[in-house]
Amino acid sequence: MTLTAVVHDAAEIVTLESSEDAGDDGETDEADLGIYEDAAVAVVDGEVARVGPTGPVTREFPPENATHEVDATGKSVIPGFVDPHTHALFAGDRSDEFEAKLQGKTYQEIMEEGGGILRTVRATREAGDEQLLDNLLSHLDTMLAHGTTTVEVKSGYGLDTETELRMLEVIDRADDAHPVDVVPTFMGAHAVPEGEDADEYVEEVVQDQIPEVESQGIAQFVDVFCEEGVFDVEQSRRVLEAGKEAGLTPKVHAEELAHIGGTRLAADIGAASADHLLHSTEEDIAALVEADVVPVLLPGTAFGLGAAYADARQFIEAGADVAIATDFNPNCYSQSMGFAASLSCVEMGMTPAEALVASTTNAAAALDLAESVGTLREGSPADMAVLDAPTYVHVPYNFGVNAVETVLKGGEVVHRD
Ligand code: NIG
Ligand code: FE
Repeated sequence: MTLTAVVHDAAEIVTLESSEDAGDDGETDEADLGIYEDAAVAVVDGEVARVGPTGPVTREFPPENATHEVDATGKSVIPGFVDPHTHALFAGDRSDEFEAKLQGKTYQEIMEEGGGILRTVRATREAGDEQLLDNLLSHLDTMLAHGTTTVEVKSGYGLDTETELRMLEVIDRADDAHPVDVVPTFMGAHAVPEGEDADEYVEEVVQDQIPEVESQGIAQFVDVFCEEGVFDVEQSRRVLEAGKEAGLTPKVHAEELAHIGGTRLAADIGAASADHLLHSTEEDIAALVEADVVPVLLPGTAFGLGAAYADARQFIEAGADVAIATDFNPNCYSQSMGFAASLSCVEMGMTPAEALVASTTNAAAALDLAESVGTLREGSPADMAVLDAPTYVHVPYNFGVNAVETVLKGGEVVHRD
């Protein structure tokens, strides 16, 4: 038995230990957060062994005996963020498209001019594995510094068997090489490759890519861009069904730019999550709740597109356990869950407590990790962020600034500001 860490004298520790019973209505209030004041957390063999008032915890687990002692006087401690939707592995730079969007160009216009996803596909196909790995590791460093300890990363900038497999391989290597846990998603159906037809490409994904992805054995989820002008509902269903047969759990990019029925598809097929949902209707939301599909809202995408935001209150009032994510990608260039939380509060109507649950326990549920990460209950992995602030509310309140000072992963200090 090793006393990995003791974090002590924190102004508050937010455990989210009972957040799974945070109310059947999906609503979360302060009482659901499991907050201890003037608190300490002791970590044994990488797992939370005790959380509570500093006196009793430090008497049982003397900080001086720990491998890592963190004096958190005046600071607060939260579970590490879980970012359940990113496209963090890519090559190239699309900052000029940010400028074009500011001049009034739409995302679709940029795509029609050869920009957007297909431009990143060209750059990613040309990049070597080591370059791709370096790129991803550097984004993981930024995420970790902003308090993220688990992140989902999608393939989808290859759009051919070789590059899709290469992307999954690089994601797997990054998971091994970096303290952040990386959850891999196969997204061969992210766009229709240049000069190809959507139906033909769907057959290529189903008949060539998915069997190879299955035998490679890395991916956990399969995702599809179900969108007007990309893959329609039937094409998306075909990809997700084939993925499911290959042992992958479905996720859906649904109703981001238009309403075509992707949310219903997610509910029908039993997806782990449906993501974006900018145009979902009340009936769609009821179907998600009924099917226990986690809605993942991505306010950074709406911010970057200058689009209307999803109304998180509508989802919460319908009883959904809403998650939020960065959607970090060349079109939505933020690795910060804190920024996503600020937007969630100011633009989507969430409370800071709801934004915290959305970026930890509910985000873990979107990755089928609800029982293992996103909380600091006894027995869970000691993944946590120490904030240079007296309360978790500073995460969204201190917008545009990183409130995170120190990050522990499995009780090891892996980042210190
Ligand atoms: O989730 N919508 C599709 N995929 C990404 C955008 C990817 C890109 O533009 O490179 C998204 O927003
Ligand atoms: Fe996305």
